[in-house]
Amino acid sequence: MPAASLQLPSSAVIRPAGPRDLAALLEIEASCFESDRLSERSFRRLLSGESAGTLVECTQRHVRGYALVLYRRGSRTARLYSFAVRRECRGQGIAKRLMTEMLRLAAARGCTRMRLELRRDNVAARRLYERAGFRLFAEAPRFYEDRMDALRLERPLQPGRTTRALPIAGKGKLAA
Ligand SMILES: CC(C)(COP(=O)(O)OP(=O)(O)OC[C@H]1O[C@@H](n2cnc3c(N)ncnc32)[C@H](O)[C@@H]1OP(=O)(O)O)[C@@H](O)C(=O)NCCC(=O)NCCS
Repeated sequence: MPAASLQLPSSAVIRPAGPRDLAALLEIEASCFESDRLSERSFRRLLSGESAGTLVECTQRHVRGYALVLYRRGSRTARLYSFAVRRECRGQGIAKRLMTEMLRLAAARGCTRMRLELRRDNVAARRLYERAGFRLFAEAPRFYEDRMDALRLERPLQPGRTTRALPIAGKGKLAA
């Protein structure tokens, strides 16, 4: 994770999440997902351990979105485990900026690819991921609590890239 925050033009920043963000993360989780929510216990464990990297995008007053990536010892595959932006903050490129930064960090950790699952009916997220270079490689029937199928997507990374953001298509790139 970066030692410092990444300053964004709007005075918002992207920075590693910490225990002080727990309440905001739980609020975002509750308002953005109908099922398969991360529990407080899971968040606490993931925020304090080495196995996950969590980034938040925030203004001085609010956490507006977050991305949580899992890493496994001995594996060069990063897994995007959870990703959400508050409803009232959507459509401003926040997810795109979080995505760019988390791809950069996973590459900097030496990962060669990132994988994720998403609900088959999640049109907005699918478009976001495809524009960021993810491609479908498998499907997982009845993956979610409500038995909705998952699409499994992956994207190659260039390991060791530490200094510049990896661009994704469209507007709203990080000015790193
Ligand atoms: C998916 C989500 C994270 C997008 O957040 P956002 O900050 O609004 O996204 P951005 O403004 O950065 O948009 C990035 C891209 O996503 C896609 N996108 C975002 N919202 C979209 C929508 N309603 N319909 C279609 N595409 C959409 C677009 O490709 C967009 O880029 P473009 O406008 O240049 O085409 C947000 O809608 C969300 O939190 N949804 C609920 C939780 C969720 O589904 N998480 C993903 C779980 S797999």
